[in-house]
Amino acid sequence: MTTIQTLTLTRPDDFHLHLRDGAALRDALPWTARQFARAIVMPNLKPPVVRLQQALEYRGRILAALPDGSEFTPLMTLYLTDDTTPAMVEEARRSGVVHAFKLYPAGATTNSDSGVTELKRIYPALEAMQRVRMPLLIHGEVTDPEIDVFDREVVFIERHLIALRRAFPELKIVLEHITTAQAAQFVGEAHERDAHGVPRLAATITAHHLLHNRNAMFKGGMRPHYYCLPVLKRETHRQALLDAATSGDDRFFLGTDSAPHARHAKEAACGCAGCFTAANALELYCAAFEQRDALHRLDDFASRFGAAFYGLPRNSGDVTLKRTPWNVPEHLPYADTDIVPLHAGEAMEWQVQIDA
Ligand code: NCD
Ligand code: ZN
Ligand code: ZN
Repeated sequence: MTTIQTLTLTRPDDFHLHLRDGAALRDALPWTARQFARAIVMPNLKPPVVRLQQALEYRGRILAALPDGSEFTPLMTLYLTDDTTPAMVEEARRSGVVHAFKLYPAGATTNSDSGVTELKRIYPALEAMQRVRMPLLIHGEVTDPEIDVFDREVVFIERHLIALRRAFPELKIVLEHITTAQAAQFVGEAHERDAHGVPRLAATITAHHLLHNRNAMFKGGMRPHYYCLPVLKRETHRQALLDAATSGDDRFFLGTDSAPHARHAKEAACGCAGCFTAANALELYCAAFEQRDALHRLDDFASRFGAAFYGLPRNSGDVTLKRTPWNVPEHLPYADTDIVPLHAGEAMEWQVQIDA
């Protein structure tokens, strides 16, 4: 067997990304812009991006922060609250700038305090989204403190997602950053497609959930840089995610959920949730796909399935990775302090080739 030394992908898209704002945006954005052509930008700023006008302004700040010559396109999203109206959904659709609405159950994750308290409250907004074909992106975890943190995704599916799909059978949904065998199975069994053959239910999968199980958080001590939400699960779930991502099934596509937090905010008594993977995203996905000898499947996962789901044209141009061992820096500059990228200080086998 000859090992592949070079891999060329169509310029990929990141369908779940946190870019933050201000000095954090300035330092996070170039990492994504050098690897990806477009990204679905999460709206969980403080305060959240709730109205079209806020999304337009945030988009302007992202474009202004891009390095010279960058061709990166941010795809904006709006944050659903109990007060999101059908008129706001229609206005967002007409804008052409907003590509989805994001549902954070209130309290589920970083900056989700203004999230939805009860799904019934947003039924009018969901009805409008279904009508105007606006995708719903879901952080799929229940917030019930009685529920074990490792079970929150599965319980969300049982308690909420099944009913939601029944109530809105034509709504396009992405279950974001899935972490369990049950989530992969639920999406894999949803065969409904729209008139264009696009799946009604899809899922994004992160590189860190493909590469790590929950042991990573406790290897020799507490490892805060492996703490994210939904939290890493046991090995059987990781195997199921690898199966889904490398299966060639167009319902699973790339979303890094790169979620930067400064080092001091992670290495703390109450550390923030989120893994920073934008600086070595494609390299991490290569390592994961290689575990299944499935590098030939990465192009569809990273560059085709997500674009088709969102009704976007495929990108032109490509990006090349080479099998060139290198070490991930221990830390990188971030918002006037520093940040620890995933796999900091470790060797990586693949490296994106970027022309200077
Ligand atoms: C994300 C963040 O920091 O914004 N954190 C995370 O652990 N994934 C929020 C999210 O995507 O849930
Ligand atoms: Zn989330
Ligand atoms: Zn996220």
